[in-house]
Amino acid sequence: MQNFIDIADIATDQFMDIIETTDDLKHNKDAYRETLEDQTLLMLFEKPSTRTRISFEAGMTELGGHGIYFYSERSQMSRGESLKDTAIVISRYCDAIMARLYSHEKMQAIADHATVPVINGLTDKLHPCQALSDFYSLQEDGFELGSDRLVYIGDGNNVAHSLMQAADTTDTPMTVCTPEEDEPADAILEASDTTELVHDPEEAVADADALYTDVWVSMGDDGADAKRDRLQPYQINMDLLAAAPDHVRVMHCLPAHRGEEITDAVMDSDASIIYEQAENRMHTQQALVLHLLDQA
Ligand code: CP
Ligand code: NVA
Repeated sequence: MQNFIDIADIATDQFMDIIETTDDLKHNKDAYRETLEDQTLLMLFEKPSTRTRISFEAGMTELGGHGIYFYSERSQMSRGESLKDTAIVISRYCDAIMARLYSHEKMQAIADHATVPVINGLTDKLHPCQALSDFYSLQEDGFELGSDRLVYIGDGNNVAHSLMQAADTTDTPMTVCTPEEDEPADAILEASDTTELVHDPEEAVADADALYTDVWVSMGDDGADAKRDRLQPYQINMDLLAAAPDHVRVMHCLPAHRGEEITDAVMDSDASIIYEQAENRMHTQQALVLHLLDQA
């Protein structure tokens, strides 16, 4: 595995190997303390972040390596230095690059020119680190990959896309429930063998083993007010939770807009595994970096 940009390009055994390493690493952290000694991860951000930035940086530190926070607006990129030159030069100093960018095309441009592994830390199209980590969190919580059903409700966005790809990779049944205007991208839907698309939230949750939502308006999205109006019936609240099976767990990648796509009562309920998801970002990404640097 050279890069981690798009789960559609990752083989099932590679995906499951990272999940397996994550579990070992999470429970035997001491055995991994020095594994990234002298290794530096460059963390390039065009967009804001809390979890992605901190989990990668703290994760590198914990394994004896180092993460450099590189905000594009404070770099020569803001004055027009090309992605090509930036990627080539970073590759001369650092062992891997993680980038969070507005456009997916730019991510591909970085990968074309970098000579070290490139990790997609979110684009307008995909959020593969989130989905990888969420599939670890699901399995950790007793959800059976390959047979239990993941139900995503809300905007058919980058997080939905990567979850759909992870569901395909693990042959896990998935329902995506959105308004017609906010369906996932056609190309992602057409490539998916495991996704069922519905528009009625109560129908969607009836056989859910996990319920997942994300913000209705993503970073860089247009038309926020109209979108919020359309998505109102897709809120995960206690009424919708009551329509799901009793054992259902609730997930959110965070940041949440409490009271919008999910209510306080649901976020703070016993059904929520949202903070476990957030914690697992660090363990999963440590495992990912180890695999990309052939240290696993
Ligand atoms: N879930 C996630 O990627 O969070 P941040 O935007 O805070 O990094
Ligand atoms: N869909 C959200 C995810 C944030 C982690 C966004 O792109 O803003």
